[in-house]
Amino acid sequence: MDMRPIGVFDSGLGGLTAVRSLRQILPEENLIYFGDTARVPYGGRARETLLKYARQDVRFLRSFDLKAILVACGTVSTTSLSTLRSENELPIVGVVEPSCQRALTVTKNKRVGIIATLASIRSGAYEAALRRMDPEVEVISRSCPLFVPLVENGRIEPGDVVIETVAREYLEPMRDEGIDTLILGCTHYPLLTKIISHVMGPDVTLVSAGEESAFELKRLLKAEGLRADESRQGEAEFYVSDRVEDFERIASLFLQEDLRHTARRIDIDQY
Ligand code: DGL
Repeated sequence: MDMRPIGVFDSGLGGLTAVRSLRQILPEENLIYFGDTARVPYGGRARETLLKYARQDVRFLRSFDLKAILVACGTVSTTSLSTLRSENELPIVGVVEPSCQRALTVTKNKRVGIIATLASIRSGAYEAALRRMDPEVEVISRSCPLFVPLVENGRIEPGDVVIETVAREYLEPMRDEGIDTLILGCTHYPLLTKIISHVMGPDVTLVSAGEESAFELKRLLKAEGLRADESRQGEAEFYVSDRVEDFERIASLFLQEDLRHTARRIDIDQY
């Protein structure tokens, strides 16, 4: 039994998709969440910048005595995961492998779509993982750079003409490629599930990178004997690098919990 918390981070709100799953499947665990809201979006940045940010995010989280880290960010997972793992001795789970595995279990026609940030698509990491696991799979990928700023601004509800127009422009060509499975390879995108499934239609299964990584973390904790006492109720602490109010408002909506006055702001430049 190990009662130490799990660290989870993302550039902003996206990692909450993993937090929501963790709260459901590992309710006994304590979580420390960091959203780097002062520097979001990460998705268009250079590899070196992303590695610098990721190292700082991990250093902040490791100011707590953690048992594991979940990189709930596709952009950091596709560009910096192996370096973070080599520099830190604790288990670190990313989002790429778990979501690719899931997509390959789900697809029937072996035509898998992947949408993610520019940096993730540029890295080719999702595509490489899918092909490594199944050389016959056809992969259609596309970056959706406007999704993250729109999510961070709370434009996530059906009926919002801006997000619906952007979604149609990005997704209709993917739908017309005849994919039956779509990996939401950026953890912000599941906040747009209603909008995305409306464009893609009922025959396309959506795979959430954040959710699948939560399942992977559960397997890992079990295998390493790191689970907390299952009879207890875990708690979550939230930290951001910019205004807490905006984060709390959208995070409360998404997690269906009242987070008012609970998030704390930190200075990420100190790490
Ligand atoms: N949610 C992150 C991802 O999964 C980062 C998005 C961004 O900041 O651009 O890629």
